[in-house]
Amino acid sequence: MSSGSSLLPILIDPKNAMSSKQDQSTAQGRSINDNDPLECDDRQHAPTSDQDTSNIVDTLLRDRFSCRYFLPDKVPDAQTLNAIFECARHAPSGSNFQPWKIHVLRNDRKSQVAAQVQTAFDNDDPDAHKPPFTFYPDAKGLARPEYNHLLQRRKDFGASFYGPLRIDRHDAAARRAVTARNWTFFDAPVGLIVTTTDIAVAGSYLDVGFFVMSLLVSARAHGLEACAQESHAEFQDVYADELALGERGESVVCGVAVGYADLERVKDLGGRQERMGLEEMVVWHE
Ligand SMILES: Cc1cc2nc3c(=O)[nH]c(=O)nc-3n(C[C@H](O)[C@H](O)[C@H](O)COP(=O)(O)O)c2cc1C
Repeated sequence: MSSGSSLLPILIDPKNAMSSKQDQSTAQGRSINDNDPLECDDRQHAPTSDQDTSNIVDTLLRDRFSCRYFLPDKVPDAQTLNAIFECARHAPSGSNFQPWKIHVLRNDRKSQVAAQVQTAFDNDDPDAHKPPFTFYPDAKGLARPEYNHLLQRRKDFGASFYGPLRIDRHDAAARRAVTARNWTFFDAPVGLIVTTTDIAVAGSYLDVGFFVMSLLVSARAHGLEACAQESHAEFQDVYADELALGERGESVVCGVAVGYADLERVKDLGGRQERMGLEEMVVWHE
């Protein structure tokens, strides 16, 4: 992990991030009071950001990371979670479809559901569980020379992820145990299962991606850290049973682990992931 200072999770004091009146109103599921200038008014466009706001947003985005170590006993309260959901619901979507829902797993219920997923994982039949959508391009496509850079990135990710854990590339059992940490949401006190409609197509997943990113950024703004987890989608059938997804017409997109970061462990064990530079990423046409 790079410098510790870049991992500081509390960029905005949660006490100052929203007025207490807003906290109360969102916690009770009521709409936001539009007389308060700090609060969001659904019917008005907000003025363009000032420098302070862009600095805060830039910092939230640039310093973000996927957190996989959490303080188990420091539990985000419902008020803070609702404040995050309140921000995330403003994510854009094609035709304002908003094809997303969140299932919040906490306490005993989270443990019960995680145990069911672990049992399914232990079942070991590779065909027993199927995600409702395909996440990665198939191996044949990825093997084409023009996509070597994608395979290389996956390899680099594996090295920086398993390296600090001292797990060898060929140690399948140890890798499996690391994968299994997904099911408890890496011991985060809150596990979110984000769903979309069970008629979702590629565009729906794009919409939900915007929504999940909003969740991740808002979580940081409230002093929390998070990790998106596509791996939960493989256990669509388990979540369908546990969360009654069939009768709701929903299917799993991903999980999101949410909690207060255990920064000591993150620094020791969480490899900071490289990013391609702008020269590789941006193609200018003018
Ligand atoms: C859609 C999506 C799905 C992901 N699924 C998982 C997952 O199942 N398990 C996991 O440990 N990390 C998961 N991640 C985290 C990625 O590994 C991580 O974002 C990537 O390696 C870059 O690292 P960073 O987020 O720390 O910058 C996922 C991220 C995204 C955006």
